[in-house]
Amino acid sequence: MSLFRDVLGSGESLFTNELALDYSFMPKSIPFREAEQQHMASCMKPLFSRRSGRSLFVFGPPGVGKTVAARHVLSDLEEQTDEVVPVYINCWQHNSSFKVFLEICSALDYKFTQNKRSDELFIIIRQMLNKNSAVFVLDEIDKLADYDFLYSILEEVFRKSIIAITNDRDWLSGLDSRIRSRLMPESLEFRPYSAEETKGILRQRLEYAFVQGVWEDEAFNLVAQKAFELKDIRRGLFIMRQAGLLAEEKASRRITAQHVLQCSMEEFAARNPASLDEDDRFMLDIIRKNSGCKIGDIFRAYQDTGGKAAYKTFQRRIDRFEKDGFLILNRIPGGLEGKTTIINYAADKKLTDF
Ligand SMILES: Nc1ncnc2c1ncn2[C@@H]1O[C@H](COP(=O)(O)OP(=O)(O)OP(=O)(O)O)[C@@H](O)[C@H]1O
Ligand SMILES: [Mg+2]
Repeated sequence: MSLFRDVLGSGESLFTNELALDYSFMPKSIPFREAEQQHMASCMKPLFSRRSGRSLFVFGPPGVGKTVAARHVLSDLEEQTDEVVPVYINCWQHNSSFKVFLEICSALDYKFTQNKRSDELFIIIRQMLNKNSAVFVLDEIDKLADYDFLYSILEEVFRKSIIAITNDRDWLSGLDSRIRSRLMPESLEFRPYSAEETKGILRQRLEYAFVQGVWEDEAFNLVAQKAFELKDIRRGLFIMRQAGLLAEEKASRRITAQHVLQCSMEEFAARNPASLDEDDRFMLDIIRKNSGCKIGDIFRAYQDTGGKAAYKTFQRRIDRFEKDGFLILNRIPGGLEGKTTIINYAADKKLTDF
């Protein structure tokens, strides 16, 4: 038996496919969301007989499979028929009516969008879509700056199904009544996964991403347990990747509980510079110094230190930081001063602190 049996040779890797740990990776099957996918599909079924479909309001906390389930249904739809145009839009990235129209044009493979205004684009979209029918998945819908495009679609695209996805279960009640009364969606809640389900999903990804047998059971169970406690599969994927990288850095052939425990949210920041620009770092620094304060107070500190972003932009970034695991937000619904949010900086914490 060699004393160096557990040392990784140069050029060897613990990963077979690290990309499988990306949040946007689409596994072949989406276990434990069969009923939710059925519900989405049932809203689209009338389109197959040239009737209009139903609309659906999907809500649930971060990292519980809303996006991946909806995308899976769309890709199934695409395989089944050419008669229904599938349109997926991330409204965070495309947050104005004009940008949404550009995305729809791209889904329709319509390229002559240059120098066209919103209304001109919509005339083309309407013409193309009304030949057949369409499904719109509007993900992160609460991040839209305006809803004009939705009104146009509701009024003038005849055979359609709209799936609106958000974390905010109250989003519908805040919606302009002209749109709400036309949308009239059914509701579908995505609840967090049980401990067993979390384990099953992470195990599937582990098999896609890692060389067989490199994960010690104890280490994997720890990841699954953390992801379950945090109620977020995305965090589990993140920890798996970090632990794998750490084990590789140490030239270890196995990923152990020790590697998992050493992962910290701070490493996430350091290893994902792409997701952080100058302004992000500036903002995070101020939040770190004011951790535990109310969002309004932190915004004032940000302005006093020379921050230029408007409050809305500031708030949007805070939401993104929360998703990426930098912050933990505590939303307080009532009180004398109305709704507020307490912001805690998470990046200093080790995983063991959660
Ligand atoms: N049932 C599942 N099967 C396989 N992978 C899953 C499942 N549920 C979640 N995931 C994975 O977990 C990650 C987070 O899922 P997803 O992006 O769909 O969350 P979400 O509910 O849309 O969260 P958010 O509200 O933050 O957008 C993704 O990488 C996704 O592939
Ligand atoms: Mg999502």
